[in-house]
Amino acid sequence: MTNTPYAVWHGLTPMGPHLRENGPDLFLVSGTDSHLVDAAGRRYLDARSSMWNVTLGYSCEPVKRAMTSQLDLLPSGTVLRYEHPPQVTVDYAEALVAVLPAPLRHVRFGNTGSQMTESAAMLSRFYRRMTGETDRHTVIALHEAYHGTGPLATALTDEPILHDYSAPIDAHVVHVSTPPPVSCDPATCTGECVRPVIEAVEAVGAERVTAVMFEPVSGTSFRPAPPHYLETLIVECRRRGIHSIADEVTTGAGRVGAMTYIERLTEVPDMLVLGKGLSAGYFPLAALVVASDIYDALADPPVRLGFPNGSTTDGHPVGAAAGLAVLGILTADDFFTRVRRRAAELVEMLMVAAKSEPRIGAVRGTGMMLGVELHDADGQLWSLRDVSALRGMCREYGLLTSYSIGVMPLLPHLTVTANDCRELVERFVKAVAALRP
Ligand SMILES: Cc1ncc(COP(=O)(O)O)c(C=O)c1O
Repeated sequence: MTNTPYAVWHGLTPMGPHLRENGPDLFLVSGTDSHLVDAAGRRYLDARSSMWNVTLGYSCEPVKRAMTSQLDLLPSGTVLRYEHPPQVTVDYAEALVAVLPAPLRHVRFGNTGSQMTESAAMLSRFYRRMTGETDRHTVIALHEAYHGTGPLATALTDEPILHDYSAPIDAHVVHVSTPPPVSCDPATCTGECVRPVIEAVEAVGAERVTAVMFEPVSGTSFRPAPPHYLETLIVECRRRGIHSIADEVTTGAGRVGAMTYIERLTEVPDMLVLGKGLSAGYFPLAALVVASDIYDALADPPVRLGFPNGSTTDGHPVGAAAGLAVLGILTADDFFTRVRRRAAELVEMLMVAAKSEPRIGAVRGTGMMLGVELHDADGQLWSLRDVSALRGMCREYGLLTSYSIGVMPLLPHLTVTANDCRELVERFVKAVAALRP
């Protein structure tokens, strides 16, 4: 220890109370496969894939090799303007759109999910400016949404406390505070499921709404939106000339046992945001993928102006090389089938554990994006504070997790072994038992 003050200012953490309540945090020094080692030499199973992004574990040699080769070949570059783009970035964009549903065919690269959700909303507004619908500014987002932070991303995120303390924020964002339904049967659906969204659109005036943004699986409740609900939402938006934007920063690139959640829908949204797993967390990489008609409409704008949005390191060749290598892994050898099978095994192990620990309830989620319900004796779901305490106990038992309201998020690497899953459940159950008052 030195006397130098702690130099990192962490976002989203009030440092004083955090340090007083939890003491200094563990510092991680190395990682292999699903495990991490801290500065004191303790070993942890990572059940939250760093920040849900390290989808292929910490020893993914093909991705490391692709990145180091790219460092030797062309270590930097940009697609900020159309000015000598790196070849590998162009190749990556072509490979990426080839595995996404048509007409999502054009990629704007960025570094973070927040940057790209903002970019999506800004692009929707820019489109309106260019096509003469100048009254359309409002973006509608859903209950419990997390779309990142930033002037517009914070506004899109449904966390009132963030809004209060980031004020003033973009005033043209409206949240629909009714959660999406838990189920929606196409055979009996009357369209009522999307009524709250349509009512929000009508309250603003459809001619003033530019886009609706949604997460297919809430990263707060871990409830997947029913496919038919999302299909109806997309159709109803289209009917009113409103862009639909799927935020798959977490769900995309394999997390739900498929390249995207939206590929199971019969309707394709106008824009798709990807991030986190695109590079398996080995490089800051995110993407906004846009339908051809939006790209075509802006290719020859009335004013000679490109979409005014971008940063120096967008489309960085090392990130593109990582992305290409990840895509190679995701699309080979029935990768997604294996992810879904392993996820089903993990859920089964959790259900068995629930039989001997009544506080462990149902498992929500899909693929390797799971949320385990935690109940009090009277059936009440745990508070955020209680789940956070369990997270601390998990850490004591060598298991790193996130936390949410009423559920313990479990998002291990997509490549976890059956042994890893057994270890995860064992440690989790021990931590729950140790928390007994
Ligand atoms: C659905 C969703 N959108 C956007 C973001 C923001 O991404 P980033 O943290 O890379 O800015 C996140 C991050 O957790 C997310 O889960």
